Amino acid sequence: MSEFSTIYKLSLLACFAALLAPLCLARCPALECWYVEEKSSRAGSFPSAMSQEKSFLYISTGFNLAYNTQNPPVGINPNRVYRIVDSTGTLCSSALQPVDGAVEKPECEINPFTPHPAMVDWTLSLTSPDTSPAYLTADWLSSSIQGLKNKLAVSSILRLPVGTTEATAVMNVYSHTPVLQTKLKQDVLLDCGFTLPQEEENSEFSLEWRYQYRGEGRLLFAYDAKFDKLHEKYITKDDVEVDITNLHGSGNASLLIKNVSIRHGGTYICTIYRPYLLAQVAMELEIIEPPHLALLPSPFWAAPGHEAVLTCEVSGYYPLDVEIKWMAKPANGEPAEFLTEAQLSGHRQSIEGTFSQTSSIRIIPETQDHLTQYSCLITHLGASSKKSVVLQVAGASGPSIEDAVGMFIVAFISYGLLKLIYWVFSAKASPEDDKKDK
Ligand SMILES: *[C@@H]1O[C@H](CO)[C@@H](O)[C@H](O)[C@H]1NC(C)=O
Ligand SMILES: *[C@@H]1O[C@H](CO)[C@@H](O)[C@H](O)[C@H]1NC(C)=O
Repeated sequence: MSEFSTIYKLSLLACFAALLAPLCLARCPALECWYVEEKSSRAGSFPSAMSQEKSFLYISTGFNLAYNTQNPPVGINPNRVYRIVDSTGTLCSSALQPVDGAVEKPECEINPFTPHPAMVDWTLSLTSPDTSPAYLTADWLSSSIQGLKNKLAVSSILRLPVGTTEATAVMNVYSHTPVLQTKLKQDVLLDCGFTLPQEEENSEFSLEWRYQYRGEGRLLFAYDAKFDKLHEKYITKDDVEVDITNLHGSGNASLLIKNVSIRHGGTYICTIYRPYLLAQVAMELEIIEPPHLALLPSPFWAAPGHEAVLTCEVSGYYPLDVEIKWMAKPANGEPAEFLTEAQLSGHRQSIEGTFSQTSSIRIIPETQDHLTQYSCLITHLGASSKKSVVLQVAGASGPSIEDAVGMFIVAFISYGLLKLIYWVFSAKASPEDDKKDK
C-alpha cells in the first residue's frame, strides 16, 4: 500500500515538475468507432464498395496517471482495438467523452490513409523528391471524431508501426464551431486549429480554406507557412481574414468572415497540409434572420356589417420557410379559435436575399364582435412571434357613432399611410417582384 502510494506520489511529482500537469491529469476517452474502408474493384481504381467494421479506440496522452480501462463492447475484432497516444491532449477534450448511460455518443470514424504529396502550389515546398516519403516505415490511419452537441470536431492522422494497433497522433486539426448559426451583418469567426507533437518541426505546413455550397466551391485562403507566402492569385476576393501571427504562434487557423451576407451560408473546409499528410475539418455556417412583424391597421376599427381587412406583414427573414397563422379570441370569454380563411401573397426576395410575405383576413363584424382580439402568429427558425390587435366595432359601446366614424376615418387614413410606407419600402427592396405583383 505505502509502496504504491509512494510510486504514485513520485510520478505525480515528476509530472508536475515537467509542467505536464494537464496531460497527466487528462481523462481521455475510450470510444466506439467505425473502421471504414473503400474496397477498390479488381478492374481498375474505381472504388466499388465501402466495408464498415466496428472498432474501439483507447486514447491517452502518453503521460496519463489514470487510463480508461473500460472494456470494448463484445464482438469487436481485437485487431480493430487501437491504442492512440496523443501527446498534445487534443483528443482528450471533455467534448469527445461519451457520457455514461447517454444514448447519444460522439461520432467516430477511422479510415486507412495513404501518405502522398499534395499537388497544389501552396504545398509544393513541403515535399521534395530528395526526401523519402513518410509512409515507407509505417501503417497509417486517419480519424474523424465529432463531439456531442457540435461542440468539437477533430480529424487526426495516426501512425502505427507496421502490423500493430499502437498508434501515435502525428497531427490533429480541430474546430470548436462545426456548426455555427449567425444573423446577417455580423462578423463571424470559424474556429480551426491544429496541433503537432512537440518534437515536430512546426513551420512545415500549409493552410487552405475552401468554401462549398451545392456542389460549387471556391478557394478562400491559401498559405505556405514554410516560405510565409500567401497564394493570392487563386483566391476570389472575399471579406475574410486569417491572423498569420496566431497561426504560427498557436496553430490558430481561424477564419474571420466580416459583415456576413446570405451568400456566406454553406460549408467551410479548413485543411492543414504537412509533408505527405493532410487533415481537414468541415464547418457549416447557417444564416438565420428572424422575421419582422407588422399587423395593420392598428388600431383596428370596423363598422357592423361592413367588410374589414386585417393584414399581417412578415418581412426580412431567412431562410424561406415561415408559417403564418391567425387566431381570434372573443371578448366574452369563449375559447380562441384559429382562422383558416387567410389569403397569402407570394413571397418576395429583397436584394440582400431576405424574404417577405403578407397574409390577410377579411372580417364582416357584428356588434357582438366588439373587442375581439385578432392575432397573427409566426413560426420561423429564427424566432416565433405574435402580434395582436383588438377590434373596435363602431357603435358597439363607448364611443358615439360620430366619434366612431371619426376614428374610422382616422384608422382608414393611417392604414392607407402605413400601406403606402410599406409599399414604398418593399418597392425599394425589390422593384422586380413588385412589378410582377401588379
Ligand atoms: C484565434 O484567433 C482569433 C483571431 O484570428 C481569435 O479571435 C480567437 O480567439 C483565437 N482562438 C483561440 C482559441 O485562441
Ligand atoms: C455590409 O454589407 C452590406 C451588403 O451586404 C452593405 O450594404 C453594408 O454597407 C456592409 N456594412 C459594412 C459595415 O461594411
